[in-house]
Amino acid sequence: PLVSMTEMLNTANKNAYAVGQFNLNNLEYVQAILQAAEEEKSPAILGVSEGAARYMGGYNVVVAMVEAVMEAQGTTVPIAIHLDHGSSFEQCAKAIHAGFTSVMIDASHDPFEENVATTSKVVELAHLHGVSVEAELGTVGGQEDDVSGSIMYADTAECKELVERTGIDTLAPALGSVHGPYQGEPNLGFKEMEEINTVAGVPLVLHGGTGIPTADIQKAISYGTSKINVNTENQIQQAKVVREVLDANPDMIDPRKYLGPSRDAIKETVIGKMREFGSSNKA
Ligand code: G3H
Ligand code: ZN
Repeated sequence: PLVSMTEMLNTANKNAYAVGQFNLNNLEYVQAILQAAEEEKSPAILGVSEGAARYMGGYNVVVAMVEAVMEAQGTTVPIAIHLDHGSSFEQCAKAIHAGFTSVMIDASHDPFEENVATTSKVVELAHLHGVSVEAELGTVGGQEDDVSGSIMYADTAECKELVERTGIDTLAPALGSVHGPYQGEPNLGFKEMEEINTVAGVPLVLHGGTGIPTADIQKAISYGTSKINVNTENQIQQAKVVREVLDANPDMIDPRKYLGPSRDAIKETVIGKMREFGSSNKA
């Protein structure tokens, strides 16, 4: 069923695993991620950036597509449709009214007081609709769609205050992670993560999940990280298969013949992440 993230993440937090957020780009992603979740008996979060929603034809199209595929595939595990890096109250409201079950309001680039004000407004509307809310502090490095920045760590005291004053369900404190591939090994602020986990009182989110070594994933989970976002890794594996198939078959024109195999690659990648995050057999 379609659900918010709240119960999913609180349960993950208590039982020391993380639920993956896997970003959607088109129909094949919806099919692949839902298949992976069902086979692994894992909860899953379908992440939708504003850019990806525009590409797919809008929030209503995304919700209709996800609901139809869930019905066609007989999905029984808990699934959330989550707005990734929502840029304003208006965008979050649109997603909520279209049927998203979760939203992220990313006002991390604004001064703290503005972040609190915008996030509070989103929480008020979202909770009225049973929709969960994620907020961010600090800056994730790298670039994803419309979101870019250079690494800035979240402040521990601000994390505590943001949760208390807004009532968010989960918090993404930027602590050195990057959207897209890492240059060398990631250098995550685990000391800060541990501190924030002690004072925040909500499950934490790790953005930029592509390219983080398993040992760091496990450490992050032990410091209260209950949601890990992955987008680039699926895109890399999908593109690799499309290139291989088209290179090997220069006359191929039927998209089903190259998107089909790449869909399997996405599914296998998602299954690998679910096992790594410990969410398999938890639905
Ligand atoms: O919000 C989405 C993520 O943080 C994805 O990061 O593309 O590096 O896996 P990634
Ligand atoms: Zn992100």
